[in-house]
Amino acid sequence: MALKKLANDAFIRDVFRLAQGQVRDYGAANMTQETNTQDTPDTDNGSGDMINTIAGWVLFAAGLGLGLSIVSDKIFHAYDPQRPEVAGYPVEVAEEAGEVEMTMTQALNMDGVDVSAGERVFAKCSACHTIEAGGANGVGPNLHGIMGAPVGAVGGYEYSGAMASFGGQWGWDEMNDWLNNPRGYMDGTKMGFAGLSSIEDRAAVSLYMNENGSNLAVPEYVAVAAEEAEATAGEEAEAEAEADQNAAEETSEETAAAEASE
Ligand code: HEC
Repeated sequence: MALKKLANDAFIRDVFRLAQGQVRDYGAANMTQETNTQDTPDTDNGSGDMINTIAGWVLFAAGLGLGLSIVSDKIFHAYDPQRPEVAGYPVEVAEEAGEVEMTMTQALNMDGVDVSAGERVFAKCSACHTIEAGGANGVGPNLHGIMGAPVGAVGGYEYSGAMASFGGQWGWDEMNDWLNNPRGYMDGTKMGFAGLSSIEDRAAVSLYMNENGSNLAVPEYVAVAAEEAEATAGEEAEAEAEADQNAAEETSEETAAAEASE
C-alpha cells in the first residue's frame, strides 16, 4: 500500500513537471502504477487522486482553449458586422438580346421568321393535321384557313368538350399562347402535343397557316416604333406653338406699354 501511494505521488509530480516542461522518464513509476491497478481493489482512493488530477488538467486545458478562442475572435474579427452581405464582388453580365422575352409581334417581324420556315415547323403538326383546302380531318382537324377562324369549328371533326366550348378566334396572340403550351392554355384539350418552345417557331408556323386559306394582317413591329416617334414629334410641335404664343403675347404687351407712355 505504501509503495502504491508513493507511486501515485510520483506520477502526480511527473504530471506537474510535464506541464512545466520538465520532461522526465517516469516509465518505472508508470509500470508500478499499472501493476498496482491490476491487483488493487476499486475502493482504493489513490487512483481516484490521479483521475482528479487528470480531470483538473483537462479542465484547465479546456478553459485555456476557450480563453484563446475569445481572444482570437477579438483579434481576427470573426463576427465582424462590417462584412458585406454578399460575399465576393458582382460581375456585370450584358443581357443577350435572345434572352429577353419577345412579343409575338416582334417574332413575326424577325429575320428568318417566314412562311417557308413555318412550313418546316409544320412537319411536326402534319402527323395529326392536314393544311390544304378540303384536306381530311385526321387525329386533329384540317387546319386550312384556321387563322382568324372561330376556335373548335371545323366541320365534321369531333372536338373535345374543352375545345368545343372554349370560344373566341385564332388571332396571332391566341395561336402563340396555344402552341406554346396547349394543355396549359386549354385545360382538357385532347391535342396530344407538348408545344413549341421557341417563339420564332410559333410565329413562323402561324405565318404558314395564315398563308394557307387565311389572310390576317401581320402586325408590324416597325410601325409601332414609328408611331411612337410621330407622337414625340407631335409633342415637340405643340411645345413650339406654345412658345410662339407666349412671344406674341409679350409683343402685344410691349406695344400696349409703348402706346400708354406716349
Ligand atoms: C398528336 C397529334 C397532334 C399534333 C402533333 C398536333 N396537333 Fe393540333 N390538334 C390535335 C387535336 C387532337 C386537336 C383537337 C383538340 C381538341 O379537340 O381538344 C388539335 C387542335 C388544333 C388546333 C385547333 C383547331 C380548331 O379547329 O380550333 C390548332 C390551331 C392546332 N391543333 C394546331 C397545331 C399545330 C400548329 C401543330 C404543330 C405545331 C399541331 N397542332 C400539332 C392534334 C395534334
